[in-house]
Amino acid sequence: MMAPDLNALYREHLAALSARADAALERGGFDHLVVPAGVLKYQLFDDRDYPFAVNPQFKAWLPVTQAPGSWLVYTPGQKPRLIFLQPHDYWHVVPAAPSGYWVDAFDIDIIRTPAEATALLPTSSARCAVLGDADSAIWPMVPNNPAPVVQYLEYHRAYKTAYEIEMMREATRMGVRAHRAAERAFRAGASEFGIHLAYCQAARQDVVDLPYRNIVALNEHAAVLHYTGLDTLPPKTLRSFLIDAGASYNGYASDITRTYAKEDGPFESLIQAMDRLQRELCNKVTAGTDYRALHLDAHLGIARILREFDLIHVDPEVAVETGVSSAFFPHGLGHGIGLQVHDVAGFAESDSGGTRAKPEGHPYLRLTRDLAPGMVVTIEPGLYFIDMLLEELKDRGLGPSVNWDTVNAFRPYGGIRIEDDVVCTEGAALNLTRTIWEASP
Ligand code: GLY
Ligand code: MN
Ligand code: MN
Repeated sequence: MMAPDLNALYREHLAALSARADAALERGGFDHLVVPAGVLKYQLFDDRDYPFAVNPQFKAWLPVTQAPGSWLVYTPGQKPRLIFLQPHDYWHVVPAAPSGYWVDAFDIDIIRTPAEATALLPTSSARCAVLGDADSAIWPMVPNNPAPVVQYLEYHRAYKTAYEIEMMREATRMGVRAHRAAERAFRAGASEFGIHLAYCQAARQDVVDLPYRNIVALNEHAAVLHYTGLDTLPPKTLRSFLIDAGASYNGYASDITRTYAKEDGPFESLIQAMDRLQRELCNKVTAGTDYRALHLDAHLGIARILREFDLIHVDPEVAVETGVSSAFFPHGLGHGIGLQVHDVAGFAESDSGGTRAKPEGHPYLRLTRDLAPGMVVTIEPGLYFIDMLLEELKDRGLGPSVNWDTVNAFRPYGGIRIEDDVVCTEGAALNLTRTIWEASP
């Protein structure tokens, strides 16, 4: 396949972003969009800095994620301006000089100290929408984060440009490569920590570069939804492995989960049933679909699997109705993804505010919007054996709905989650994760 022309894709991306910024500034009645990249933060009473997390409003414009003290200024009709801090510093690695396909699109000023930005920023903040956190303030630019501007930009950020899809494709390639290494480490009997190291090595990313903390869970640990312990010794008996881990590329995230059984048997069959359901749900990522309906479809699908595997005694519809399915699948089906692993504006009613409610009884769903071309969402159904939630079922008088013998047989395996990143298009769903997974060894 021909390599994409990043230069052309980036120009289109910038044109789309500029048009959105024009509209957002008009909504708010501002002349300039001013975006600080952010500043380094330090631990309390200490000189140790936290890993730098760039302002997403900054990295939306350019593939630069390590730029504390830098600023972006956009004025409609003008070339965007980058004020780039490259300090004289022999203690630390300084940000690399701007280079690559994107630099010609900016007027770039290099500064050596943060304070030098003042002379290059607009002289008054009165007509500026300044998007950032309070620590980034430099006189006269104090972040004001006007709601009409932020709402507009965040709402439209859900619709990815072709350039952004390309960035996410690369983040997926890195993640898939690392997932394959992690599975090999699991099959070879590595500890959670060993698997995690194999993952980072293959992704070529350190913990601070990854879009979120790796979830590397063996056996019962898979029942902890965000398990981040990393046992340094392998368990005596290895039964199952759940890994939820992604990668970052130029500020964009991938978010991928796979579950494996050590041996053939009922748990492997349960994984296969969940895998079939997950693929069906991915295929339903089509324009006009209400994501809430997909989430409810997932509940029914999981309840059917629970019945098929003799985990419950009641009909699937009853299991959903009474909340039994929620004890086994207690999180949302997924979320938007892009510059942030959990992308913003998941509940936005429109680009000028309002909220689309979650279905009653489903408090953890993160996305309630209608799908439309350009949106990228995760599809991540799960089925877990979580002691606390199973106990709650008993407390609510729903114990008789459950076949406890089967549940007890599955408890030592923890649970299953399978997660892909899927693009909504004008036509069929484009599963970024599986397309790359199936094309790579
Ligand atoms: N990795 C967190 C999530 O899947 O949402
Ligand atoms: Mn996810
Ligand atoms: Mn995930």
